[in-house]
Amino acid sequence: MITLSVNIDHIATIRNAREGREPDPVIAATMAEMAGASAIVCHLREDRRHINDRDVYRLREFIQSKLNLEMAANDEIIAIALDVVPDLITLVPEKREELTTEGGLDVESNFSRIKEVCDKMHNKGIKVSLFVEPDERQLTAAKNAGADIVELHTGTYANARTAEKFKFELNRIISAAAFAYNADLKVAAGHGLNYQNTHHICFIHEIDELSIGHSIISRASLVGLDRAVREMIDLINNATLHRNIDI
Ligand code: PXP
Repeated sequence: MITLSVNIDHIATIRNAREGREPDPVIAATMAEMAGASAIVCHLREDRRHINDRDVYRLREFIQSKLNLEMAANDEIIAIALDVVPDLITLVPEKREELTTEGGLDVESNFSRIKEVCDKMHNKGIKVSLFVEPDERQLTAAKNAGADIVELHTGTYANARTAEKFKFELNRIISAAAFAYNADLKVAAGHGLNYQNTHHICFIHEIDELSIGHSIISRASLVGLDRAVREMIDLINNATLHRNIDI
């Protein structure tokens, strides 16, 4: 069985659009857990564009499944992770100007820094997942750095616009998953997965976890819209009926 980790960053994106309190990522996380999510993922970015520090502490308090804190190998965020003690962290590269995480970690070139972060997390009992391209050299470096899990970057696969490119990228993920599994790494995958492209990834035996955010939150906003509009119309109608009551 492949388990689903739900990324709730974009609940915070919507909340932050009005700098208010709703929708609350903690409530969203709880609802995702009740629907069967095996873990909740949130990305505490250096610029705090969606999830903020308080969200992370509150999520730690309320989440009953697993908290996966996605983060860059940045000293300030590392200190927060060591204080919050999530069940696991996912190390990702981070650039301020990017819309979302672009590309996997270059574990080979940043080997000593990444190994240092793995060691620090392990000393606190926190597991480490490294978000990498489906590439054998990066997977070998991830194993040597002490990763428990590798999350294969599916973004290029998800963005493939021709059948040829799609097949090529899918085959890269298939080979990388087998390579990582044989190296005794737990294999996850994520980024850009949606209701059209996820099922092919599910055929890969070695993958046992998917991390999905944007498409689930997007779908939620649409499948929930009918009910939300009806509830507002009911509220308006009920209030209109009682118009003559003094407030
Ligand atoms: N995995 C990682 C490492 C990510 O950075 C992201 C995006 O935050 C995801 C999974 C989820 O990607 P998406 O929002 O496209 O489903």
